[in-house]
Amino acid sequence: MEKGKGDYNAHCLILPYPIQGHINPMLQFAKRLRHRRVKITLAVTKFLYSTMQEFPEFVSIETISDGFDEGGRAHAGSFEEYFETFSRVGAETLMKLLERLKNLDCAVDCIIFDPFLSWGFDVAKKSGLLAALFFTQSCAVDNIYYHVYKGEIKLPLSDDEIIIHGLPPLEPKDTPSLIYIPGSHPTALKMLVNQVEHLGEADWTFVNSFYELEQEVIDSMAKFSHVKTIGPTIPSMFIDKQLQDDKEYGLSIFKPNTDACKKWLEQQAPCSVIYVSFGSLSEVGPEQMEELAKGLKASNKYFLWVVRASEESKLPKNYAEELSEKGLIVSWCPQLEVLAHEALGCFITHCGWNSTLEALSLGVPMVAMPCWTDQSTNAKFVSDVWKTGIRTLPDEKGIVRDTEIVRCLELVMDREEGKEIQTNAIKWKKMAREAVDKGGSSDTNIDEFVSALMNPPI
Ligand code: UDX
Repeated sequence: MEKGKGDYNAHCLILPYPIQGHINPMLQFAKRLRHRRVKITLAVTKFLYSTMQEFPEFVSIETISDGFDEGGRAHAGSFEEYFETFSRVGAETLMKLLERLKNLDCAVDCIIFDPFLSWGFDVAKKSGLLAALFFTQSCAVDNIYYHVYKGEIKLPLSDDEIIIHGLPPLEPKDTPSLIYIPGSHPTALKMLVNQVEHLGEADWTFVNSFYELEQEVIDSMAKFSHVKTIGPTIPSMFIDKQLQDDKEYGLSIFKPNTDACKKWLEQQAPCSVIYVSFGSLSEVGPEQMEELAKGLKASNKYFLWVVRASEESKLPKNYAEELSEKGLIVSWCPQLEVLAHEALGCFITHCGWNSTLEALSLGVPMVAMPCWTDQSTNAKFVSDVWKTGIRTLPDEKGIVRDTEIVRCLELVMDREEGKEIQTNAIKWKKMAREAVDKGGSSDTNIDEFVSALMNPPI
């Protein structure tokens, strides 16, 4: 079909790193493109495909290989082995996929790649395609990694404050954990720092953020890259008035206990419930888990706690039964529906970037308990820049004690100080909506991208 006249305006292939926190924002971006008549092919690993619980209908799904089709990352001897095999086998199988689509008269125009898979850029260029980088983390975090990549931040860090133009002064603990904890995950650090490798060369650079949220950082990054914010990529039914009828949620790797959560939330008073979740990857140590359990109990508030099946054994014995009146523990929930519920009063979060943006966009105050990677930087911004939450203070062993959890919850939910946080949360909710609304900063950036796809340079 001729572009612009037939079924679609252009064809983009989306290449996410195969974890929930990266698939969600890329898919939601894809949905906004699809709404503008861009055909979308989603490339996922064979293993991820075999574990998927939901299949979005607005994309064509194709598989590539990470070299571990039977078990994914868990079947690799080390992360290094996984990363290297995925780079090689992923690039080979993606090339074959592009060739096959071309032969089917369904050629791809642009690869939108997750910079964790920076080889996506090489494949695009070898195939003569446009390449768009899609950062799934904040501009602030990308900017920090850029300065490490350029050697302008030297590792290991000293105790001095870190000054980067466009960012507030940072203590080492405010940088991503892979940076401030020397040698903690060398391969992951390499992968994260190398995300910025193609920053100047890619045809577009997108970030799941919005201009008003990170204005100073984005303006400062303009010296070396024109990043285009296209977020928050919250599913349309929660935020985007243009797509209100679209009820399709996305692609879930875990099965949510939707009915149980909704039923339970319906019984609770407005703004009374604490929602607790540490995302799809973070592992909470047994001692920390116990303190959190004690803190929630001592708060004497109602709570909905997501404890993934792999973490369940760390809960105190009989805890769920003992607290069944006050708390509901589930292995996965429909997080956006939970955050959007009027019963929600506060979110105890690890500050993964999606969770942070989702809470900001739905006006939910946060208690930040960062675990690793970019979460410490997100927590810094939540507490000190956007002021929509408070960051917990760990003790000298790095554990956030029950008393500290109670203190933070009282501050955010009950006291006068919490009022400012609640007002800010509402302010950011409004601004997030405006960014994706017709003519908003993110909406305009997406329009410009689609228009450029329809009129490629000759
Ligand atoms: C990872 C990293 O850990 C994070 O720091 C990075 O910014 C993105 O990738 P993850 O730890 O899973 O992500 O956290 P987060 O970014 O918050 O993403 C989790 C996603 O799962 C969110 O979109 C959230 O809505 C969803 N979720 C979480 C559910 O749908 N149900 C749940 O029960 C828990």
